[in-house]
Amino acid sequence: MTSAYTIRPEQPEDHPAVRRVQALAFGHAERVPGLVEALRAAPAALAPISLVATHGGEVVGHVMLSACRLDAEPRLVDVLSLSPLGVHPGHQRRGLGTRLLAAALAAAETGGAPLVFLEGSPAYYGARGFERADRCGFRSPSLRIPPPAFQVARLTAYEPWMTGTFVYSDAFWAHDCVGLRDPERFARIVASHPG
Ligand SMILES: CC(C)(COP(=O)(O)OP(=O)(O)OC[C@H]1O[C@@H](n2cnc3c(N)ncnc32)[C@H](O)[C@@H]1OP(=O)(O)O)[C@@H](O)C(=O)NCCC(=O)NCCS
Repeated sequence: MTSAYTIRPEQPEDHPAVRRVQALAFGHAERVPGLVEALRAAPAALAPISLVATHGGEVVGHVMLSACRLDAEPRLVDVLSLSPLGVHPGHQRRGLGTRLLAAALAAAETGGAPLVFLEGSPAYYGARGFERADRCGFRSPSLRIPPPAFQVARLTAYEPWMTGTFVYSDAFWAHDCVGLRDPERFARIVASHPG
């Protein structure tokens, strides 16, 4: 039951469990956990928002929001990347990802961010507050992101002049966490979301 889960800010003692959950969710021992650690190491002014979901006191889900930029014409705009979002495989399809996503968007809203970007399934995120970013005036940071997967949530602080290129922080590049390196997967995603 979803109600058996608690969502709260990550504490330092959660770090090993977060590493395990993200490694299991993404099926990579190092890449995504490495990204999480690099994002945590940001200077205090750019500290990420990191939330965990617990079940019986155990961390079973995790989501992170971190500082990135939008290269808009008048000036650079501080925006957020929502990544990674991971739920322990044994707890998937119980609404937990949806709850973590809603909690992350609420935190972004509270913090006054105008825009939250991510890469992910348009079917999943499109039903949860996101829309195709390329159709809202945003340019993707990489040709390796399938256009339908480049997603944005426009929050209350968003203003129509905020268009331009989404720029990831260096941690995403350093950990090779931008876009897809599998052309067949890229083509499948594009083909399954025509128009
Ligand atoms: C994506 C993820 C966070 C969703 O968490 P969850 O707790 O299982 O999600 P919810 O229970 O809120 O929603 C489940 C629904 O989302 C769908 N869904 C889950 N992952 C999906 C995906 N990658 N693409 C499309 N739909 C997906 C399920 O089919 C399910 O649909 P249904 O309710 O119609 O059966 C989780 O599956 C996960 O950790 N996956 C591995 C890591 C990952 O891909 N993260 C996202 C990267 S952008």
